[in-house]
Amino acid sequence: MRSTLSLASKRLLGLILFFITSTFVLFYSPAEAVLPVKGQCSLCHTMHNSQNGSTMVYAGTGASWNGSDQLAGGTDNSPQPSLLNTSCVGCHSSDSGSTIVTIGVTRIPIVYNTGGYPANPLAGGNFYNVSRGGSENDKYGHNVHGISGEDANISPSGPGAPGTLPPPGVNPTCMQQCHGTLAAGGATFFGGNGCEGCHLRNYGVRHHQSPSWYRFLRGHSFNTLRRVDGVPDPTGNYEQNPGAGHNEYKGVDDATTYTYGDGSLNATQSITDFCSGCHANFHEEMDGASSTWLRHPSDMLLPETGEFAGYDPTASYNNLAPVAYLNPAAPVRSEAVVMCLSCHRAHASNYQDSLRWDYLTCSPGSANPNCGCFVCHSDKD
Ligand code: HEC
Ligand code: HEC
Ligand code: HEC
Ligand code: HEC
Ligand code: HEC
Ligand code: HEC
Repeated sequence: MRSTLSLASKRLLGLILFFITSTFVLFYSPAEAVLPVKGQCSLCHTMHNSQNGSTMVYAGTGASWNGSDQLAGGTDNSPQPSLLNTSCVGCHSSDSGSTIVTIGVTRIPIVYNTGGYPANPLAGGNFYNVSRGGSENDKYGHNVHGISGEDANISPSGPGAPGTLPPPGVNPTCMQQCHGTLAAGGATFFGGNGCEGCHLRNYGVRHHQSPSWYRFLRGHSFNTLRRVDGVPDPTGNYEQNPGAGHNEYKGVDDATTYTYGDGSLNATQSITDFCSGCHANFHEEMDGASSTWLRHPSDMLLPETGEFAGYDPTASYNNLAPVAYLNPAAPVRSEAVVMCLSCHRAHASNYQDSLRWDYLTCSPGSANPNCGCFVCHSDKD
C-alpha cells in the first residue's frame, strides 16, 4: 500500500508524522524550561587548569561558590572530566545560604549549603546535615562522596547483621554490583559514585542539552525508555518556593516487582521505580497475598473515597505530601499516585530518614501542623 501513495499524500503523511514527533518531543522535553546551561564557558571550564601559573580547579572537600560568586576552597585541584573547573559537588555547593547561585545569566541550583541548613531548600532537600558527620547526623539522608563518609548506621563496613547490608530494602542479588554506599570514591561499574550513583554521568547527565528525561535521572543503559519522567517546576526554581510553582512526578498503579535488572523503568518511567532500583523490596514487598500492606504502598492510586476524599492535590497542592500522576503533564485527581517522594526528600533533609517533616512529632491530636501523614490520612489527626 505504502508504495502506491501519491507524492502529495506522502508529504501529508510526513507532515503529520512531523507534527506527531514534534508534539512528542515538546511533551517529553519538560526540562526545556531551565536547561541547557547558560553563560560564559570560563565560568565552568578551564582549558589547561592554569591561569597566571595557578591551578584553576576547585574540587574536593569544601569546594563551593562563595559570597562573591567565586569558586573557592577544596583540597583537590586535579583536572576534572570535560575540562570542568570543579566537581558535581563543588559546583552545586554554596558557602552562603542561597540555594540558587545567580551569576549573570547562569543559575546554579545548590544542593549543599556548607554553612547550615538553608531556609529555602530545593525539592531534593539539602545535604548539609549529613556533612556534619557522626551517627546522629548520618540519619538525615543519603551520605554521598565529597560531602560525607559512609553512613555510620547503614554502610557495608558499619554495624548491621549480615544480610542487612545497605541500601535498606536492596535486592541482595545486586547489592554487590550497585551501590552498597554512595560515599565511596572512584568509579563504579556504571561510571561514578556520589552524585553520579543516581545522576549517572555516562547515561544521564547532559548539561548542554534539554534532555527528554527528568533531572538527569536514568537507568544504566542507553535504552531511551529507561528514564524518569516528570515536569519540572515551571518557574525554573526547583521548588525553592513551592507555593509559586512545583514539580510533577510520574507514577504508575503497579504493585509488581521493580528491579534494575528487569529494566522495569523502561515501562514505568516512574520516580518510585527509580528509587526501587536500589531499595527494591520497599516496593515489591508492599503487598501480601490479600490487601494487607507489609510495606507502606507506593506507586498505587490514591483512593478518592473515605479519609482520602479529604485531599485533592490538584485543587490544593500540599508540599508536605506531594503525589505523582499517571500523566504528570495533565494531572487529574483520579490518577494521583502515592510515591516514595510523598514522604521523603530525594537527597537529604532537616528530618531523620530524609523525611519531608518531623515524624517524631506526628501523633493524633498533636499540634504538629506539618505532619505529612495527616494530609492523606485526614481522619487520623
Ligand atoms: C554553568 C556551567 C557551564 C557553562 C557556562 C558551560 N559549560 Fe560546558 N559543561 C558543563 C558541565 C557541568 C559539563 C559536564 C558534562 C555534561 O553535563 O555533559 C559540560 C560539558 C561540556 C562539554 C563536553 C560534553 C558535551 O556536551 O559536549 C563541552 C564540549 C562543553 N561543555 C563546552 C562548553 C562551551 C564551549 C561553553 C561556552 C559556550 C560551555 N561549555 C559553557 C558546564 C558548563
Ligand atoms: C539518591 C539519589 C540521588 C543522589 C545521590 C543525588 N541526587 Fe540529585 N536528585 C535526585 C532526585 C530523585 C532528584 C529530583 C528531586 C525532586 O524533584 O523532588 C534530584 C534533583 C537534583 C537537582 C535539582 C534540584 C532539586 O533539589 O530538585 C540537582 C541540581 C541535583 N539533584 C544535583 C545533585 C548533586 C550535585 C548530587 C551530589 C552532591 C546529587 N544530586 C545526588 C536523586 C539523587
Ligand atoms: C561547573 C558547574 C557545574 C558542574 C561541575 C555540574 N553542574 Fe549540574 N548544573 C549546573 C547548572 C548551572 C545547572 C542549571 C542548568 C540550567 O537549567 O540552567 C545544573 C543543573 C543540574 C541538574 C538539574 C537538571 C535539570 O533537569 O534541571 C542536575 C540533576 C545536575 N546539575 C547534576 C549534576 C551532576 C550529577 C554533576 C556531575 C556529574 C554536575 N551537575 C556538575 C552546573 C554544574
Ligand atoms: C544508587 C542507589 C540508591 C538510589 C537510586 C536511592 N538510594 Fe536511598 N539509599 C542508598 C544507600 C546506599 C543508602 C544507605 C546509606 C545512606 O543512608 O547514605 C540509602 C538510604 C536511604 C534512606 C535512609 C537514610 C538514612 O540515613 O537513614 C532513605 C530514606 C532513602 N535512601 C530514600 C531513597 C529515595 C526516596 C530514593 C529515590 C528518590 C532513593 N533512596 C534512591 C542508595 C540509593
Ligand atoms: C507514607 C510515607 C512513606 C512512603 C510513601 C515511603 N516511605 Fe520510606 N520511610 C517512611 C518513614 C516514616 C520512615 C521511617 C522508618 C519507619 O517508620 O518505618 C521511612 C524509612 C525509609 C528508609 C530507611 C530504612 C532504614 O532501615 O533506616 C528508606 C531506605 C526508605 N524509607 C525508602 C523508601 C522508598 C524507596 C520508598 C518508595 C518505594 C519509600 N521509602 C516510601 C515513610 C515513607
Ligand atoms: C500521599 C498520601 C499518603 C501519605 C502522605 C501517607 N499515606 Fe498511608 N496510605 C496511603 C494509601 C493510599 C494507603 C492504602 C489505602 C488502601 O489500602 O486503600 C495507605 C495505607 C496506610 C496504612 C495501612 C492501612 C491498612 O489498612 O492496611 C497505614 C498504617 C498508613 N498508611 C500509615 C501512614 C503513616 C504513618 C504516614 C506518615 C508517615 C502515611 N501513612 C502517609 C496514602 C498515604
